[in-house]
Amino acid sequence: MSTRIQDRVVVTGASTGIGAASARELARQGFHVLAGVRRDRDADALRADGIEPVILDITQPDHIGELAARVGSRAGALRALVNNAAIQINAPVEALPLSEWRRQFEVNLFGHVAVTQVLMPALLRHSGRVVNISSVGGRVALPTYGPLRGHEVRPRGGQ
Ligand SMILES: NC(=O)c1ccc[n+]([C@@H]2O[C@H](COP(=O)([O-])OP(=O)(O)OC[C@H]3O[C@@H](n4cnc5c(N)ncnc54)[C@H](OP(=O)(O)O)[C@@H]3O)[C@@H](O)[C@H]2O)c1
Repeated sequence: MSTRIQDRVVVTGASTGIGAASARELARQGFHVLAGVRRDRDADALRADGIEPVILDITQPDHIGELAARVGSRAGALRALVNNAAIQINAPVEALPLSEWRRQFEVNLFGHVAVTQVLMPALLRHSGRVVNISSVGGRVALPTYGPLRGHEVRPRGGQ
């Protein structure tokens, strides 16, 4: 068994897509990846050499606290946090209930702020990085993307 202390990286939303691919690639590069997933079956599917799944819903303060405790209890530098988890709710602005707007912001904005806050001390200790995965959908105006863009909502047909 190797006794080498590996540099660590946290990736949120690692059950599928870009998060899963990032976790696997970072592990291949030699990092120890704490990979956030929401279900045990996703943890089982992801677990591998260099990948340690962590149950992490970024809207759940207890999950975030457990992640911080796990990071704090281990040797090895935390080199990066990859804020990747997201949901995408597309709908005409006027048709989407405010509760759904709030749900999207809880995941895509406040969840990341909460995770970043608790891991920042560990990141700062070793000049770690915060990598925020964004979307071209946040830059380009597309029909029904108002809830994803959030910051710029214009009436259709208006100025
Ligand atoms: N794919 C694209 O073409 C594209 C384009 C632009 C931007 N992006 C950005 O790239 C990132 C990943 O996209 P993707 O296409 O790989 O998406 P994806 O396959 O849908 O993956 C999203 C991940 O976020 C997780 N997640 C959702 N809600 C969560 C929560 N409350 N707490 C923790 N994890 C949560 C999902 O977990 P569950 O499986 O448990 O739901 C899943 O692991 C996102 O930030 C997205 O905005 C993607």
